[in-house]
Amino acid sequence: MSEQAKLTLGAKALEMPVMDGSIGPQVIDIRKMYAQTGAFTFDPGFTSTASCLSAITYIDGDEGVLLHRGYPIQQLAEHSSFPEVAYLLTEGELPTKEELDTFVYTITRHTMVHEQLMQFFRGFRRDAHPMAIMCGVVGALSAFYHDSTDIDDPKQRMIASHRLIAKMPTIAAMAYKYSVGQPFVYPDNSLSYTGNFLRMTFAVPAEPYIVNPVVERALDRIFILHADHEQNASTSTVRLAGSSGANPFACIAAGIACLWGPAHGGANEAALNMLREIGRPERIPEYIARAKDKDDPFRLMGFGHRVYKNYDPRATVMQQTVRELFAELKVSDPIFEVALQLEAMALNDPYFIEKKLFPNVDFYSGIILSAIGFPTSMFTALFALARTVGWVAQWNEMIGDPEQKIGRPRQLYTGAPQRDYVPISKR
Ligand code: SDX
Repeated sequence: MSEQAKLTLGAKALEMPVMDGSIGPQVIDIRKMYAQTGAFTFDPGFTSTASCLSAITYIDGDEGVLLHRGYPIQQLAEHSSFPEVAYLLTEGELPTKEELDTFVYTITRHTMVHEQLMQFFRGFRRDAHPMAIMCGVVGALSAFYHDSTDIDDPKQRMIASHRLIAKMPTIAAMAYKYSVGQPFVYPDNSLSYTGNFLRMTFAVPAEPYIVNPVVERALDRIFILHADHEQNASTSTVRLAGSSGANPFACIAAGIACLWGPAHGGANEAALNMLREIGRPERIPEYIARAKDKDDPFRLMGFGHRVYKNYDPRATVMQQTVRELFAELKVSDPIFEVALQLEAMALNDPYFIEKKLFPNVDFYSGIILSAIGFPTSMFTALFALARTVGWVAQWNEMIGDPEQKIGRPRQLYTGAPQRDYVPISKR
């Protein structure tokens, strides 16, 4: 008999089973609660709610721990590659060399997009935000690849998963090229996943493009840091869309739309814009004061996290990567110094200490992406590129979960009780 949680509500007494995971917090199974008490739980923002069983990613927010299939993010960032992490997240185990080579071969040969998809881009204004383009184009993929939209067919699910992982870099690069008025660059199968993306983004027909291995490694590591993150807002969106049986392309498009928000994936663009607005260290106190001011909606972008009440381990790796990239490229950016001093001042400020606000994954990422040459408008598109691996892994896990059913939360109704219609002549 599992441990039981007891609930009393009025004259009703209820026992609910407590479930244990392999590590981390227990959950109280409340699935029978409404039937037995007539009451719902109330948890806007789902701060205390587990929505599913999952074996993909584990986060301990108090300890600043992030594991992908049990492997610490620091070790994956140091020793792995984004394609290998994509295999790990989607298949569950680190691949053998043969398994990885086969996976990379398969993904590489899905990197081209249907030639007619280019017409789709032409409908956007040149100044369209890349995320607006990503939402539209990815959502339209089901119109081009409807031979892999039957979610009940494991083979079609796998093909759709590979197509999404492979085509996101091509679509993101096309969104950038369209915004700068340069011709699209086709994939080059002789390059790595990340090297191919760099070439599709920055190559021009007028001259050869050589992938810088230092930049390739830094960007590959950034993709690893963004690959998956448990049941965050955009992943939950993908799962909820998938729970209705929507095709995988539509589900990933829903995830892209959710990620765009500045409270979520849009924070990397907002954080760099904030650092640039601060401009120099002597202006930092003014912005910290604004972040603490209840009457000022300003927040330190790239700071704080729903789960991490300690350092986001990804931010630590990201800061190290800035140092390495700048040293290897022999470049610098005064904004990095602003970021370092802002972090130091915030982490010594009682407001941030008391509310346990630390830099998150978005605080330093923009500095690296800007140094590589990406405009800030592309930052969230790069986040979406990498997170597609996690979304695909989580979507497949949900589809394969025998307990999954359509997501349909309830509410606490605060509107008018029933009343009769009043003819307009009597209002
Ligand atoms: C990502 O979920 C994930 O895993 C997301 C992500 C992923 O990989 O998928 O990690 C990626 O989205 C990272 C977060 C990026 N967003 C930002 O950097 C935007 C700035 N941060 C926030 O707006 C905020 O911290 C959130 C949205 C990230 C978390 O918000 P919560 O958990 O809902 O917390 P909250 O808004 O209730 O804040 C708690 C308190 C509040 O003060 P009080 O009302 O208690 O007085 O802390 C304050 C907030 O005002 N606060 C901040 C702050 N973040 C929270 N104050 C100043 N600056 C901030 N950044």
